[in-house]
Amino acid sequence: MTDAPMTDVPMTDAPQFDAYDQAGPAAETTLTLPPVPAAASAAADGGPLAGLETRDVSAWFGSHKVLERVSLAMPAGEVTALIGPSGCGKSTYLRILNRMHEMVRGAALAGEVLLDGDDVYRPGRRPAEVRRRIGMVFQRPNPFPAMSIKDNVASGLKLAGIKVSKEEREHLVETSLRRAGLWDEVATRLHTPGGSLSGGQQQRLCIARSLAVSPDILLMDEPCSALDPTSTRRVEETIAELRGRLTIVIVTHNMQQAQRVSQSCAFFLATHDTPGRIVEAGPTGQLFGNPRDQRTSDYVNGRFG
Ligand SMILES: Nc1ncnc2c1ncn2[C@@H]1O[C@H](COP(=O)(O)OP(=O)(O)OP(=O)(O)O)[C@@H](O)[C@H]1O
Ligand SMILES: [Mg+2]
Repeated sequence: MTDAPMTDVPMTDAPQFDAYDQAGPAAETTLTLPPVPAAASAAADGGPLAGLETRDVSAWFGSHKVLERVSLAMPAGEVTALIGPSGCGKSTYLRILNRMHEMVRGAALAGEVLLDGDDVYRPGRRPAEVRRRIGMVFQRPNPFPAMSIKDNVASGLKLAGIKVSKEEREHLVETSLRRAGLWDEVATRLHTPGGSLSGGQQQRLCIARSLAVSPDILLMDEPCSALDPTSTRRVEETIAELRGRLTIVIVTHNMQQAQRVSQSCAFFLATHDTPGRIVEAGPTGQLFGNPRDQRTSDYVNGRFG
């Protein structure tokens, strides 16, 4: 795709953005996804991990350009943190990565998003397959409150159209809860409602639900911003445990958290009504310890934003 000014009509070679009605995070609970073969992803069968890369990604809502030529490599098996002031396009960028951006009416984009070198926007590629391989966890935990803990985890499979035997499902539920660091707290009450858990436990339940479909990539949009410090620490431990098994991209406003959990970091900035861009990206230690750009230094040291 080329980078060109947009109207409220998507580019002809862009995905059919109006194929879905207006939908936000809640769409995760309402979407009816077409069946996806249970073919295991590389990460699921212990194969090589998949990395993610964007090249010259620009994004629009109607005629409002919100991202400008964002190129970033998110290395396989690492945690990449996206930081930057409110409104600079971090969430938009994250939604572009797993084709959720196109669910917003009037949204458009240009550029490439490469999952293991293969463009997720390649014509003919199904959004449902992309969203299974690239899972997402939102700012506010959004389990199905009345559904049991066990069924909440299994619902990820159902939404992705993955059919498994009863035994496999039991196994996947336990494995996913273990990987999300929640098993020990819920093993004896798997049939109680997801809504009965604490906020931090609910967020780990949502992580377990995402993990159940064996994604290669997990996107997390401020996953701890609604949590207390103890729950935040627990989710950060979960992220640390998942690292190396899959690739994680996390948006955070918490500079300490970015330093604790990530190995790579990208600083986004939008100034004076210009679209968001990456000012600086690189190893987290360098971005925080020895930034090249004065604006990065000012931001990570709390001088603005
Ligand atoms: N659905 C939408 N329709 C129109 N404009 C939108 C929509 N979602 C986001 N925007 C605009 O896109 C720009 C980037 O928003 P985005 O939510 O990606 O920023 P952000 O960096 O995630 O901010 P925050 O840190 O506050 O979450 C903002 O100017 C915002 O107003
Ligand atoms: Mg955001």
